Amino acid sequence: MSTRPVHRSRLSEPALARVQAVSGLAFASFLVLHLLTALAAVFGQRAYDGALTLGRVYYQALPIELTVVLLSLVVHIAASVTRARRRRRGRGSAERRRPHAGLRLHRVSAYFLLIFIFGHITATRAPAIFADVPIEFAFVHYSLANLPAYFVPYYTLLFAAGAYHGLRGIWVALGVLGLPRPQAPRALTRDHATRAAAALALVGLLVVSALAGVWYAVDTTNFPIYDALAARVFGG
Ligand code: HEM
Repeated sequence: MSTRPVHRSRLSEPALARVQAVSGLAFASFLVLHLLTALAAVFGQRAYDGALTLGRVYYQALPIELTVVLLSLVVHIAASVTRARRRRRGRGSAERRRPHAGLRLHRVSAYFLLIFIFGHITATRAPAIFADVPIEFAFVHYSLANLPAYFVPYYTLLFAAGAYHGLRGIWVALGVLGLPRPQAPRALTRDHATRAAAALALVGLLVVSALAGVWYAVDTTNFPIYDALAARVFGG
């Protein structure tokens, strides 16, 4: 019997960090558009729906949706989870230093997004793909109007976590790949990380209040379609 050690093929730490950076930047090309679309809600229903229609030209072209949105997201999560597990295994008890607030918030937002992201994608894409339901301002408004206790904090935190993790992530990824990057975000997400995250949560709340119809009247013509969808999915 051979006594040679078995070598499991595994990526080196720097290679894994590059995979994490490239996949994160690819997903960010969708995320930045998506967050700007959410911000457009502040200018009303037509502005949001217009931004959604415009963004879809890029991210809902099938090859882009499958690779830039979905594949890069899965690869980014796989690389990040692998790095986190290696970090945990390799950390001796002497080395248990608390990371700075910016890094802690980056990780907390990652765990939040990990828990909710696939539910969010299913809830917003499956009705359009399988039941031809129009996904637009009124669709998001419908969930906020019917279940505000859940959807107001959910969308506010989704926005804040996505914006913080995405913006800080772009900055970190550019550094990993040795690309030039501005200095301002470093100060924001290191020295003033908590304040930056709180500001993004406030912007999220502003966006969500607009989607909830606090500032403008909302055209709810499509509500019967959403009622029928809710009845099919949840019964009743
Ligand atoms: C207030 C915050 C947010 C709102 C109101 C929102 C709303 C929506 C809507 C309406 C769609 C359907 C898009 C379409 O049909 O064109 C969607 C899809 C999606 N959202 Fe969000 N979203 C928010 C935040 C986020 C964040 C922070 C992320 C990721 C970190 C995210 C990831 C996605 C993904 C991956 C899709 C699927 C895109 C596709 O395949 O077409 N969303 N979201």
